[in-house]
Amino acid sequence: MNIDILLGLQWGDEGKGKIVDAISPVYDVIARFQGGPNAGHSLEFNNIKHVLHLIPSGIFHTDKLNIIGNGVVIDPAVFKKEIEELGPPVSELTKRLIISNKANLILPTHRILDAAYEMHKGNSKIGSTLKGIGPAYTDKTSRNGLRVGDILREDFKQKYNDHVKNHLAILKNYDFKFDLKEYENDWFEGIEMLKKFSIISTEYLINELAGKDKKVLAEGAQGTMLDLDFGSYPFVTSSNTISAGACTGLGISPKLIGNIFGIFKAYCTRVGCGPFPTELLDVTGANLRNLGHEFGSTTGRPRRCGWLDLPALKYSIMINGITKLFMTKADVMSGFKTIRICTSYKIDGKICKELPFNQESQIEPVYTEFEGWEEVLTGYRKFEELPSALKKYIEFIEKQTGIPVTMVSVGPDRKETIFRN
Ligand code: GDP
Ligand code: IMO
Ligand code: MG
Repeated sequence: MNIDILLGLQWGDEGKGKIVDAISPVYDVIARFQGGPNAGHSLEFNNIKHVLHLIPSGIFHTDKLNIIGNGVVIDPAVFKKEIEELGPPVSELTKRLIISNKANLILPTHRILDAAYEMHKGNSKIGSTLKGIGPAYTDKTSRNGLRVGDILREDFKQKYNDHVKNHLAILKNYDFKFDLKEYENDWFEGIEMLKKFSIISTEYLINELAGKDKKVLAEGAQGTMLDLDFGSYPFVTSSNTISAGACTGLGISPKLIGNIFGIFKAYCTRVGCGPFPTELLDVTGANLRNLGHEFGSTTGRPRRCGWLDLPALKYSIMINGITKLFMTKADVMSGFKTIRICTSYKIDGKICKELPFNQESQIEPVYTEFEGWEEVLTGYRKFEELPSALKKYIEFIEKQTGIPVTMVSVGPDRKETIFRN
């Protein structure tokens, strides 16, 4: 069982990028399996912060192979920009990054459609990142997509034009102004950049490497509460963010999966629209946002903040089959006198431990209160030395979920990570 998965248990932005980078040294391959440029994965070392959107978070380790799997949707323009801003020369990156020929392309018109659909939804909009994710996955599912492997075909431009024609016909129904040419130039330059990389059937490579005892880490994007099937539908993304998504998004059997690491913030955030039972619209929520720098890595939008939601966390653990929990950002709550965890919901006066079908129903969170801790956590490196109030907070989560918290992150830097034996 040579493939581990790391994925988010909340509404995204749990700190996946930072932790994938921190644990990459024990892996040979780091592979993204779903999502696309809607993701913003931050990682920090040597006082420099990097934000990755499409490229797996193992890219800064020079001896690792990074794979963008078939489940990912790729916007070539975003890809080119990201490659150019990364630092190392392209000739070096082509040795460390391989792309699935089956990953679907996000076309310029997908981005335009995303914006047109959102505008049309008015008050019920999703709060999409406007990167074209929904329309690109829609075309994939309806078998109208263009795939990365298609860029090597002689008739690619013709195929592209056919797709654009169809999209423009749909856009005629919307009163939405756009300038396609503006997007297209960058997009075709991006296609040339993609051609510099190996574009192959990565499923063969991953299975071959896993069979040779190489260790693979599958890196999730978004979070379980944004999963297309199990998230707070329709306020979700358009891919399966859960552990099963790693199998379909990379072409691997469940038999090969070892650990499934579930990452969560010590509190909750959500960016975009949709239900959020423990959201704090008061000064505590504002404090979490300011102290935790809770602004979107992709869009810069302020993230909504609230207390930890155990019914949602337990649900995520169940759906994913989590074997180990990783907790991030406890350092943000240093100095809080009291901290709360939502242990159940009250719906129509009844206590409920499960997530309701209609998550937009009036949910009143029922809280358990904990004493806070004063200590600044950033310098801590040993679990045993953490403040006892924080250890009690962690113990409570472990008892409630039945899963051990084996890693605690106390800052954005690679080094600010505490592993527990
Ligand atoms: P991702 O999408 O799951 O990779 O998460 P993001 O990168 O979008 O958001 C997480 C943010 O929190 C980033 O700015 C990280 O640098 C930062 N971060 C990650 N872990 C910690 C932590 O333990 N403490 C603090 N203070 N910041 C963290
Ligand atoms: P990472 O990987 C947080 C949210 C959007 C919106 C909904 C649908 O950095 O955790 P989409 O553009 O996918 O159609 O938007 O999902 N969303 C994210 N929120 N982190 C992300 O990724 C997200 N990717 C999408 O805000 O509510
Ligand atoms: Mg993010």
